Amino acid sequence: IQHFYSKSDFKGKKVLITAGPTQEPIDPVRYIGNHSSGKMGLAIAEEMATRGAQVDLILGPSQVSTQHPNIRTIPVTHAQSMYEAAKERHNAADICIFAAAVADYTPALPAKEKMKKKADDMSIALKKNVDIAANLGQEKSSHQLHIGFALETQQEEENAKGKLAKKNFDMIILNSMNDQGAGFKHDTNKVTFYYPSGEKDVSELLPKKEIAALIASAIKKISTKS
Ligand code: CTP
Ligand code: CA
Repeated sequence: IQHFYSKSDFKGKKVLITAGPTQEPIDPVRYIGNHSSGKMGLAIAEEMATRGAQVDLILGPSQVSTQHPNIRTIPVTHAQSMYEAAKERHNAADICIFAAAVADYTPALPAKEKMKKKADDMSIALKKNVDIAANLGQEKSSHQLHIGFALETQQEEENAKGKLAKKNFDMIILNSMNDQGAGFKHDTNKVTFYYPSGEKDVSELLPKKEIAALIASAIKKISTKS
């Protein structure tokens, strides 16, 4: 991967980033969540901002935060509120990066009161959440770039390429699960970039900050191509 860097790479560009996990309410005190830390999304936000972009960071419940003057953080909790926050800002964005680990399902009928312990077996009815990237992908105009992520445990390449096409992405970044030190809870990551042309680029195992720099450079590359 060629690595360019300039503080004006994204000057005048508006960037929308979804990041972190979502928390889907079961009742007032419980939720369905996941292990996403939000670190990768935050690192990308800081990298884009450092290269001159104005960033809206739509962030699910997370320990991470930033003071960067070019980043406005919009905190959200569940998939539906993340979608609404993203949809509201989508038109104004030049580049959208969908880095959030959005829950695929949400409790169909969250309880108004704390649920009481009763039978030995219990189940919670779930319904499918809105697909933020796929929905906004259908509204994408020719001047906008959409970047997505995928994390797979099997048929990595085939699944990543499927999502690239289905969600109308201009690039998808596959997080490798099969490498020690890569993924959710680690500070390092190893990624593969796939493009609609069929080309791909593979990174080393690197700190998330350096992966973020590679991602920003790859976005710069595709934005000057089109
Ligand atoms: N995504 C999203 N909204 C969702 C689910 C996913 O915006 N409700 C985005 C993610 O942020 C990521 C991409 O879509 O950029 C792929 O997410 P992933 O979970 O890998 O794909 P899914 O379509 O949910 O498929 P599955 O989980 O079944 O593999
Ligand atoms: Ca999913």
